[in-house]
Amino acid sequence: MPKNMPETVPFGALNPVFASLGAVVAFYATFRLVSSVFRGFKAFFLASPLGLCANVKSYGDWAAVTGATDGIGKAYAEQLAAKGLNIILLSRSPDKLKDVASEIESKYKVQTKIIAVDFSKSGEIYEMISKELEGLSVGVLVNNVGMSYSYPMYFHELPDSKKLLTDMVNLNCLSATMMTAIVLPGMLERKKGIVVNVSSASGMNPSPLLTVYSATKAYMDFFTRALQTEYASKGIIFQSVLPFFVSTKLSKIRRASLTVPTPTGYVRSALATLGIEDRTNGCLIHSIQGWVANAAPEWLINKVQMSMHLGIRKSALKRLGQKKAE
Ligand SMILES: NC(=O)c1ccc[n+]([C@@H]2O[C@H](COP(=O)([O-])OP(=O)(O)OC[C@H]3O[C@@H](n4cnc5c(N)ncnc54)[C@H](OP(=O)(O)O)[C@@H]3O)[C@@H](O)[C@H]2O)c1
Repeated sequence: MPKNMPETVPFGALNPVFASLGAVVAFYATFRLVSSVFRGFKAFFLASPLGLCANVKSYGDWAAVTGATDGIGKAYAEQLAAKGLNIILLSRSPDKLKDVASEIESKYKVQTKIIAVDFSKSGEIYEMISKELEGLSVGVLVNNVGMSYSYPMYFHELPDSKKLLTDMVNLNCLSATMMTAIVLPGMLERKKGIVVNVSSASGMNPSPLLTVYSATKAYMDFFTRALQTEYASKGIIFQSVLPFFVSTKLSKIRRASLTVPTPTGYVRSALATLGIEDRTNGCLIHSIQGWVANAAPEWLINKVQMSMHLGIRKSALKRLGQKKAE
């Protein structure tokens, strides 16, 4: 070696450093895997039979559920009523609200209150809701209302985009934010409360062709997780629920299957995780999907989602074309 050249450390000499680093990374990865399998096992197999989940009835007399007349929201309303809570149903259609309320009252022998409200609006609707909730001890709030695209679309293709974008942000983000602001002071006074925010698996990773929906659901997830930390010491539970497909009007999947639970089955499982998981995909099969999505590299997720959404878009456009031709 020429005299003036700097001495280099032979690769072999670094081996112990790399080996220790590798061991730390392997230990961390194994720890994460084992702890998430353990949490999943506890949430989906032990929580219900052992009664480990939060006792919702002890948090207050009333539960408020947005988007409560169909799908996941209706299932939350029914199952919280089954646990003995009085239910405040907030949704758009007065007739559907009356039907669901009387169904719940006669089946579960609890009180109900209905609030007909269009969450695509902003401003004054929240003053009205505030007044309606005055004096009620709301122990549980389920921010469930939400909307998506009618089918996957490029951002520039969104029909009547000014209205659609405003509606989506109002329904998917503003409603949960304002509803939380309305009920939280009461919960803090009573030093207890539960806020369940229904986000979506589309909020875990960017979802091309459902871009705005995905972004609003990521907002919901971040909003919830930050509040969970902010209020952990004040007796308030915030839970972010991130479902994959559930058979509802919104998903347009009528038949349930192994990977697509019914709203009732999904909510039964998600409610059993309350107080155990701050952030959950809600049921075992969705959690397995979530673990895979978390472990896969982002470029792969993007590629799979783009091609899946292009496929759904193609079939939707074909169906629309056929309808027009009829
Ligand atoms: N289903 C899925 O596969 C899935 C997957 C991931 C996340 N999610 C999320 O889960 C939540 C519930 O979805 P879902 O599938 O259960 O929906 P859904 O079956 O379509 O039910 C939607 C509910 O929201 C109400 N609603 C709709 N627009 C409203 C508005 N402008 N103002 C007030 N209420 C309104 C509906 O009332 P009306 O009947 O009166 O319209 C209905 O009660 C959403 O936040 C969604 O993003 C669903």
